[in-house]
Amino acid sequence: MIKKVVITSGPTLEPIDPVRFISNRSSGKTGYYLAYEARQRKIERIVFISGPVRAYPEGVELIKVETAQEMKQAAWEHWQDADVIIMAAAVCDFKSVRYYSEKIKKTGDSLVLELVRNPDILREIGQHKKARQILVGYAAETENIFENGQKKLREKKLDMLVLNEISTRNPAFESDENQVYLLTPRAIKKLEKMKKATIAVHVWNEIANLSGGNG
Ligand code: CTP
Repeated sequence: MIKKVVITSGPTLEPIDPVRFISNRSSGKTGYYLAYEARQRKIERIVFISGPVRAYPEGVELIKVETAQEMKQAAWEHWQDADVIIMAAAVCDFKSVRYYSEKIKKTGDSLVLELVRNPDILREIGQHKKARQILVGYAAETENIFENGQKKLREKKLDMLVLNEISTRNPAFESDENQVYLLTPRAIKKLEKMKKATIAVHVWNEIANLSGGNG
């Protein structure tokens, strides 16, 4: 029985100075539809941790965050008693080493900005999760996609990886449609190109199979 799900969604935003930041093109649509589908399945608690996006789903416990660090903190407050954890957020892998409290001035012809790794929230949860919990990650790969995907599945201790092959035929980001593969330790399932809302239904069906519950 799935009673609580935690979903991360959207981009993170890593400030550089009062007017600038590092971010990415994630629209948050994938997470939005995952939350919508969780509601359809009458899951009691849907904790939705989201970076800044245009539209947030209704009927969820919404936690708005900006940085990867804030997303990590919110995820750690909620994942321990969750039955399912889906990390659909496009977390910035790097942030500026330093936050400049004054706006950076253009003093020369070049500027070196030093970046440092952000925590890998998915990997950290994978290291600690209990066997009964289902952990789902997302990945975007451009080459050796199945090999890299299986490696991620193993290394991050995931129950399922939703794999996007990024190419000109399948831009994925900012689109309403996508073509993905669902990787589990034993199988690879190809989903044809379809609406992200429909992909969310397939992802939840697979989660239901894995849990034998009401997903
Ligand atoms: N993720 C995360 N915290 C990060 C980076 C990624 O929780 N700091 C999660 C995302 O929410 C997503 C998955 O990890 O579920 C994405 O991993 P991805 O960026 O595709 O792969 P990486 O493990 O970062 O490897 P690489 O970029 O080297 O392919």
